[in-house]
Amino acid sequence: MSATLILLVGPRGSGKSTVGPELARRLGWAFADADELVESTAGMSIAAIFAAEGEAGFRDREAAALESLCALPNRVVATGGGAVLRESNRALLKRSGFVVWLTVTPEVAFERMTADPTTAARRPNLTAAGGLGELRELIASREPLYRAVADFTCDTGGASPDAAAAAILTAW
Ligand code: S3P
Repeated sequence: MSATLILLVGPRGSGKSTVGPELARRLGWAFADADELVESTAGMSIAAIFAAEGEAGFRDREAAALESLCALPNRVVATGGGAVLRESNRALLKRSGFVVWLTVTPEVAFERMTADPTTAARRPNLTAAGGLGELRELIASREPLYRAVADFTCDTGGASPDAAAAAILTAW
């Protein structure tokens, strides 16, 4: 039986917010972005949450947002790049749906991030100011965590959101 939730994991710039809506459109499902739910629930940007409550405060809010999104059927959920850091989130994702790891090289991720400075400024931890070196390290350090939750891996580097969505639906 196919899951009724598709959960996208992967680093910033891996295409979660472009592939996600395309997948949802093809399935006739809703698309939800965990970062956006955190921001709307808190009434603050992620940058403001980090400043006021630190990363731990943000991660608590992120875990709560994931819990509520994973309880809803027929949905494609984009998770934040660091959602896999907590073991409890990884367990939740694994038992809730079909988890797709979107992969991308640090170079392409960096290019995508810097092409969109508004998003980079809104979401700390990973800003263009950190540079490609920081991004490489971050992606490498999280790779085992993404791998541990993934049911399917899809490289978005050379693929359009359309082609990535088609590949995911074939595997689902
Ligand atoms: C983060 C990634 C962001 C956001 C927060 C922390 C991270 O999500 O959750 O700024 O630790 O990699 P995106 O991957 O959607 O940019």
